[in-house]
Amino acid sequence: MLKVESVSHKFGERLVLKDISFEVGEREIAVIMGSSGGGKTTLLKCITGLLKPTSGSITVDGVDVVAEPDLARGKMGLVFQYAALFDSLNVRDNILFGLRRQKHLSRTEEDEVLAKLLDQVGLEGVERMMPSELSGGMRKRVGLARALCMEPQLLLYDEPTSGLDPVTAYSIDRLIVDTRDRLGLTSVVVSHDVSSIFRVADRILFLHQGELLFNGSPEAFRSEKNGPIGELIQKAKSESLARK
Ligand SMILES: Nc1ncnc2c1ncn2[C@@H]1O[C@H](COP(=O)(O)OP(=O)(O)OP(=O)(O)O)[C@@H](O)[C@H]1O
Ligand SMILES: [Mg+2]
Repeated sequence: MLKVESVSHKFGERLVLKDISFEVGEREIAVIMGSSGGGKTTLLKCITGLLKPTSGSITVDGVDVVAEPDLARGKMGLVFQYAALFDSLNVRDNILFGLRRQKHLSRTEEDEVLAKLLDQVGLEGVERMMPSELSGGMRKRVGLARALCMEPQLLLYDEPTSGLDPVTAYSIDRLIVDTRDRLGLTSVVVSHDVSSIFRVADRILFLHQGELLFNGSPEAFRSEKNGPIGELIQKAKSESLARK
């Protein structure tokens, strides 16, 4: 579903992505993680076509992101870090925003679409609420509903659990997995919340200083002993022990 081939990106003279290659298969949930400044956001921007990689190619469902940006974007849904809702629009108008720009729907058709989406993201009775009245977790759910409204094949989540308390973060992780299970979507999640990553990932991609240091299963990742990954695992283990 997603194929990244030998992608490099330079900001001026600085190489921030170094020859990155990986694939994400249908229905798979891949998590991109790594140290701050490692290149996660840059990679995500390249995938969505917001940035053109200096070299290499990216295809989504066989469509080249650089050559056919509109067609490729149509296959992708983005769930932004802070949900990025329009503050002056209620939940209904936020969710239907993109769809209304594409086609005209009757009120009844809109109601049907909305009811289905709200059910999918586990919300009820919020259609008329304004973003400022929603909790952090609810905002994330509305952000997801808005992305799903366009029926994407590939969903990209930028830091879906950041800024949430652990219980809400857990429920959002469940939602990410449930969305994949119910809709059969492919997902790419950018995150540095280690416990969250192990709850959702089928595959982990670890970016460090622009290099893809790891591409494999969560089990294999967990057993890494050395280097930046070993350090991270050790730190996560001691933090979870400290909480017990
Ligand atoms: N527009 C830009 N111009 C110049 N340098 C940039 C730009 N955006 C990012 N960088 C640099 O590229 C490198 C990778 O940044 P990026 O934001 O992709 O990292 P990240 O992995 O998302 O980090 P974080 O976890 O802090 O969000 C960093 O060294 C950053 O300073
Ligand atoms: Mg970032």
